[in-house]
Amino acid sequence: MLTSLRIPHCLNRLKVLLVLSCPLLEDMTLDCGAPALHYRGSLIPMEFAAPLKLTKLSVELLPCHSALGFIFNELPATLLRLEMLSLSCTQLEGVDSVSRLSKCRSLHHLILNWTISDSARGTTDILDLGCLLEAAPSMEKLELHMVMDHFLHKRYRQEDGELRSLPSCPHSHLSLVHISGFIGEKDQLELALHIIHNATVLEALKIDPWPRTANPVRARVKSENRLANGRSVALAFLCKDDHRSVVSVLEDVGE
Ligand SMILES: *[C@@H]1O[C@H](CO)[C@@H](O)[C@H](O)[C@H]1NC(C)=O
Ligand SMILES: *[C@@H]1O[C@H](CO)[C@@H](O)[C@H](O)[C@H]1NC(C)=O
Repeated sequence: MLTSLRIPHCLNRLKVLLVLSCPLLEDMTLDCGAPALHYRGSLIPMEFAAPLKLTKLSVELLPCHSALGFIFNELPATLLRLEMLSLSCTQLEGVDSVSRLSKCRSLHHLILNWTISDSARGTTDILDLGCLLEAAPSMEKLELHMVMDHFLHKRYRQEDGELRSLPSCPHSHLSLVHISGFIGEKDQLELALHIIHNATVLEALKIDPWPRTANPVRARVKSENRLANGRSVALAFLCKDDHRSVVSVLEDVGE
């Protein structure tokens, strides 16, 4: 029944705050100084007052919201010391162009669990995530777990046209990248290439056709065809640009 959550005092011994089952919650104002917050629910206004202790934020947005929209527009600007962000969301509509690129300067580790529904696929461009390199200049570890839940799957082939590229954005911290749900579609490949070329200290790029998020996934997401396409596109187009031998394409399927 909770509709408003306000914690105005610093609670020194509180380490983690979990807000998981408050479907009626409309706003949250936290000044409790907890270093970690895990929130599951719909997108509501969240306010965090100083001192800025929050370093770890995990958000499962229900029912759906644009991932980029959240990071760039809703992620509270006061989270100046945020080091780890884990975000789970389902994209039902296309992404609005990212108007205001606010920087997450302290972010070291980003986990993005991104389900792209059939209705959003036509207007969602995965290469847009390339702007994260610019937005999170200290990021060391990136995990992108995609669930591509659309009917018309098309693997990239050379005759499908030139691959697009984004403006150069050298990144000098990103060393570990794990991309799962990689089924060899053109924009997925373009994003992976952007990372290979621009992450100057990259040590490992794990390409994993299997969808790894905890979301319930439907049969078509895991179809053999998609997994095989993901592997063959990665081997054909990524590995040849992998001059530092950082790419590994995961073979095993299943959890
Ligand atoms: C960054 O990636 C783009 C592809 O999106 C590529 O065209 C560009 O050359 C890369 N930058 C560097 C410094 O390699
Ligand atoms: C995202 O998925 C990973 C891998 O399944 C999981 O460990 C993590 O908790 C998920 N994050 C959120 C916010 O749901």
